[in-house]
Formats: sequence, structure tokens, C-alpha cells
Amino acid sequence: KFEELAKTPPMGWNSWNTFGTDISEDLVKGIADKFVELGLKDAGYEYIVLDDGWMTRERDENGNLVADPEKFPSGMKALVDYVHSKGLKFGLYNCAGGTTCAGYPGSRGHQYQDARLYASWGVDFLKYDWCDTDELNANESYLTMRDALYKAGRPVLFSICEWGDNEPWKWAKDVGQMWRITGDIINCWECQIGHGSWFSSGIWPIIEMRMNTNIREIAGPGHWNDYDMMEVGNGMTDAEDRSHFAMWSILTSPLMMGNDLRSMSKETTKTLTNKEVIAINQDALGIPGLRFSNENKLEIWVKPLENDGWAVTFVNRNDTPVELDFDWNKHPIGDDVSQHFMESDKNTFEVRDLFNHKNLGTTKKNLKATIGVHDVLMVKLSKK
Ligand code: DGJ
Repeated sequence: KFEELAKTPPMGWNSWNTFGTDISEDLVKGIADKFVELGLKDAGYEYIVLDDGWMTRERDENGNLVADPEKFPSGMKALVDYVHSKGLKFGLYNCAGGTTCAGYPGSRGHQYQDARLYASWGVDFLKYDWCDTDELNANESYLTMRDALYKAGRPVLFSICEWGDNEPWKWAKDVGQMWRITGDIINCWECQIGHGSWFSSGIWPIIEMRMNTNIREIAGPGHWNDYDMMEVGNGMTDAEDRSHFAMWSILTSPLMMGNDLRSMSKETTKTLTNKEVIAINQDALGIPGLRFSNENKLEIWVKPLENDGWAVTFVNRNDTPVELDFDWNKHPIGDDVSQHFMESDKNTFEVRDLFNHKNLGTTKKNLKATIGVHDVLMVKLSKK
């Protein structure tokens, strides 16, 4: 049962980016309703995940975690049932340490007990954080929680939230279905704030942080590099949001929304429900894309797809628009995958624009377009 989880990158929503610990049952119900109303469920989003802050400050007299009765007056089981009644899945958060990052009781020393509680509530997803972990070994800690989930018997997607210091890409593949590779994301294009071992990063620093660490080779069906919950709809421009979404898709990152779905703009909804872009992320081969070139701050990334297709993103990192005139047959070679990409000159592909939903002819002619500031042209190449 556990083997069937996350054959393609998990899709859903997580409370943290927008709400922090200010969460409640009304919020979750509102979000679940929007999943259905706005076509998010139909587009493939499935998990609704409550991050840090859902519990009381102390365990009860039996050592069990308690859902905060002020935030969740009907109790967690009733809320999980509500989410399930919409045909969706439900996720919770805890931490490998003694306390969570926001100071609530962590699972250290209570792993099996907590796993049984989650199973009794019908929880389908567990995000497991890495605060207050003095002297713990990361690989072992996550293995313990994984085994506790196995023992409890209910298939639970295990989302590992360690930020890279313990190199999860070396061990997490057999432990969870997704693992974070960096510290937290923030809603900006290029910025990085904070210092020392803890800082938050915008879209491009997150993408580039582990580029030389060979994390691509490890991801695939059942286990994914997690570039963090998305910031689409949280204040960047619509163009930046489109590029962010395109990049998370081509990187095969989980697509966890992190905005307030109850008040998002039409443009944000359009981006998040773009089925043609989502199909690239969900492609059955599960091969993460890679950078093909980035001359003059034009980011070209390519990803192999089923049926010998390719996805290609052209992202403009310049602060002025770019005139693209791309000859499919004349380009530098990166590694095996892009070498293969070069063989496209032996075949002719149909070119489809995935944001404008238009066919653009074939690879026999140059691809010409104006790409706006921080905007993206994302195409799919299909064999003729
Ligand atoms: C750190 C994680 O990286 C975040 O995604 C979030 O879960 C917070 N902890 C919660 O305290």
C-alpha cells in the first residue's frame, strides 16, 4: 500500500506560507470547499495539510497529542471526515525533535503513539520537521517515524522536512515520498534573507541551491525533491508566479499551494489550475528537468516526457523583455539528457504553448516570441 504513494509528485495545499500557526477548522473547511468550487480538485490537487500550530502546548495525561480545542472545536476526526467527504486527503505536521519549530510538542519518544493517533483520525499525509533535534541522527529519526507509520498500518505519505544539512538526497529515498532540499521559501524572485545556518530564499536561490549536488538523479516515481510549498498568489507579479509554477513543474517538485485559496485572483486561479503545465509535472516518467542553458539570463530548462516528448521552459530573468529567436538545431550541450535533446534535429516535433494553449508550428522553424519581464514561455514538444 505504501509503495503506491506518490507515483507522481504530490499535489495539495499547506497552511504555513500564509497562515503560520493561525489555523482553524473554518479555514480548512473553506479551503476544502474551494478545492472543489474552483476546479483545483479536478486539476489534480488532493492533499490539504495543516502545518505547525494545530495542537495544544502539552500532551494529555496519557501522552497523546491534543488538537487545540479553540482552533478545532469539533475535533480533528470530524475535520478529517469533512475533508474526506469532499473526495480529498488530509495531512498533519509534527517534528522529529522534542518540540516543533513553533514550540508545540514534538514526536521525539512518542513516534509509535503519534502514528497510531494519526491513523485513528484517518490522516493520509505527515510532514515531519527538524527543530529541537540535539544529538539526533536525521536518517535514523526519519526511519523511526517511517516504521511507526508502517506499524500503524494506514498508508501515510511521509514528507521529510530537513533542510539539507544532513543531505537527505543521500538517504531519504527509501524513507519518505518527498524531502525538502533547502530552508524555507519566501515570496520573492531572487532574494535571500537571514544568515548563518538559517535563511529564507526566493524562487531562483531555491532552484539553484542544490544544482551541483546531483539531486536530479535521485528523484522519480515514489520519491521527490521538494522545493517547498509554492508562493504563487502571495505577492509576486503574475509573470513571476507563472515562471515559479512552470519551474516547480519542470523540476518535478511536489505542487503544494501556499496561498489563501478563498481570496485569490482569477489570474492566480488560472495559473494554479493550468492542466497543460500540471501534466508536465505529473508526467509518468517522473524525470526532473535540467538547465539546458542560461545565457543572458534567459533560463532554458528541458525535461523528457513520455512518448519521446519534451517540455521546455524559457524564463526571462532580466528586468526588460526579451526577444526570443530560438533555432532548435543550434544549441550548446549540457549532459546526457540534453545531448539526447539535441537529437531533436533528427525528428520534427509539434510545438505547443502551454500557458497560451496554442500550437506554434513545428521545430523546423525558429521559435519566436517576446517574453515579458520575469515571464515564461513554456512549450511541449510532441513527436509528429
Ligand atoms: C520549518 C519548515 O521548513 C516550514 O516549512 C514550517 O513547517 C515551519 N518549520 C513550521 O514551524
